[in-house]
Amino acid sequence: MKFDVPNISKQIKKLNFIKQFEYYDEIDSTNSYLLKKQNLTDKTLVLAEFQFKGKGRLERKWLANAYENLTFSIGLKPKLPANELGYLNFCTSLSIAEAIEKIAKCKVETKWPNDLLLGGKKFCGILIESQFEENQVGRSIIGIGLNVNQLLFQDEFKERTTSLRLFFNKSFKREDVLIKVLKQFSKNHSTLKKNINAIINKWKLRCSSLGKKISLTNNKDIFTGIFEDVTEDGSLILNQNGKLLKLFSGDVTVIKE
Ligand code: BTN
Repeated sequence: MKFDVPNISKQIKKLNFIKQFEYYDEIDSTNSYLLKKQNLTDKTLVLAEFQFKGKGRLERKWLANAYENLTFSIGLKPKLPANELGYLNFCTSLSIAEAIEKIAKCKVETKWPNDLLLGGKKFCGILIESQFEENQVGRSIIGIGLNVNQLLFQDEFKERTTSLRLFFNKSFKREDVLIKVLKQFSKNHSTLKKNINAIINKWKLRCSSLGKKISLTNNKDIFTGIFEDVTEDGSLILNQNGKLLKLFSGDVTVIKE
């Protein structure tokens, strides 16, 4: 079923958080669009039914069927110092976890840096892209891909991917999920600076790989060690026999012993 756009607009107005809302049946990528947009208004939401060049982290593609999922971006002009950019990572993934937990009365897992899992499988990915002005974040585009009602995934993703419908065995109204996520995000975002420690702690409570032996792969290296902690700037601290290594990006896999 298509999005009920007038209803979404109405509900967004009630939230009193989003300042501008744009909807597209088809777009290259909601993130790319907002990165290029002239005179971006702070808190602009762009929702698309289908992206033909959806982007994932680490130069990957984000594939999502039309009419079944949520693909949207929130454009912010956060006025954050560059080293506080990581706050947005934690705020976004925690907000989505809390929103789904409220909707479906379940426990959502966070996975570093900002994936969300149900039953160990990914149902939501976040891509935050930022532009800097001097040492400040000029604009940050928070892109969210949330698998809602999609049942079939390409073979290479099948094993590690899920959707709300696959996991809970029932379909969800995409509008409701979107509004709940925005509501939770607006709540956490409004107290972000003051409450960053509480936000990170709530994120950590949901992160099952924390404290475990992991391997972290980025494009060229593999690091193994104990997942010791995360820092406010969003990095992962790996403990390699007492030596602490700070890592900024990569994919985490728990090593079963
Ligand atoms: C990841 O897990 O690799 C991040 C995926 C982020 C996908 C979303 S969908 C909306 C926004 N537009 C994009 O092109 N990407 C993000």
